[in-house]
Amino acid sequence: MSIHWYPGHMHKATKEMAKVLPSVDAVIEILDARIPFSSSNPVISSMSTNKPVIKLMAKSDLADNKVTDMWRMRFEEDQKTKTLAVDLKSEHVCEQVVKLCNKLAPKKEGSSSLIMVVGIPNVGKSTLINNLAGRHVAKTGDEPAITKGQQRINLRNGIMLLDTPGILWPKVKNLPSSFRLATVGAIKNTAMTYEEVAFFALDYIKREYPLLLKTRFEQANFPASELELLEMIGLQRGCLSSGGRIDLERAATIFINELRAGILGEVSYETPDMIDAELSEEFGGDAS
Ligand code: G4P
Repeated sequence: MSIHWYPGHMHKATKEMAKVLPSVDAVIEILDARIPFSSSNPVISSMSTNKPVIKLMAKSDLADNKVTDMWRMRFEEDQKTKTLAVDLKSEHVCEQVVKLCNKLAPKKEGSSSLIMVVGIPNVGKSTLINNLAGRHVAKTGDEPAITKGQQRINLRNGIMLLDTPGILWPKVKNLPSSFRLATVGAIKNTAMTYEEVAFFALDYIKREYPLLLKTRFEQANFPASELELLEMIGLQRGCLSSGGRIDLERAATIFINELRAGILGEVSYETPDMIDAELSEEFGGDAS
């Protein structure tokens, strides 16, 4: 099973990006720090092979720092790649980003460096651009795929940003990746039910971050299955439908929204080793 996610405008956007890429000086690829592999678009990666790349790990305030560090080390094994782990909502981000842009794409006489900004929907692209520009430039919102069209934004400090639409790749072949994208809210809510996403997330968190779950739901021990776990959450949160049955979809929605907002704590959903193992087992190295 694979998730197909490629509306027409995304196809067009990819072509437009490929066309303009030769003229850009560097690329800022915004990743979700909780899923640096799954939020990295292989289309973008293959297009930007010869350009310096800043992998900006956004939402690092919601991610597990130890895992974020592992990913930064992994990414920086590539000589032309630099990384920054950031909370895009914090004040100091602009300074750090501008400094890194100047380092990778030094200022030019008489013209600005052109920096292309790419990232999947909902990753924080508008938040970054608005912060850098000091004004509201592109729409920001929680619904993926809101920003459309390419636009240039002159930061008046020797940097010209090239904003591109938030795109996801043609097919997400890796099923765990599609669940991770849904867990953090990058795949539209309609692509999977909250219940399906909650089962996936509960299974993962129960194994990797049991303490967060125990603390949030004040339980010393968990029920054995994800279904029972979700029922327990539903009961705790008063998600009962008319016949007194537990409304699992409502319980799942509450759980996923708390998880996305970081209420349970800082969680990363993939490590470099985990992804290496997934790729070698399932695709013989083909992640696209
Ligand atoms: P996009 O253009 O890439 O589609 O994403 P956008 O900037 O609209 O950001 C999507 C949501 O992610 C926004 O939340 C934004 O505030 C939040 N966000 C962006 N960067 C970070 C970050 O580094 N850390 C955290 N915790 N959140 C981040 P929203 O709820 O839609 O908007 P708002 O109510 O926060 O304004």
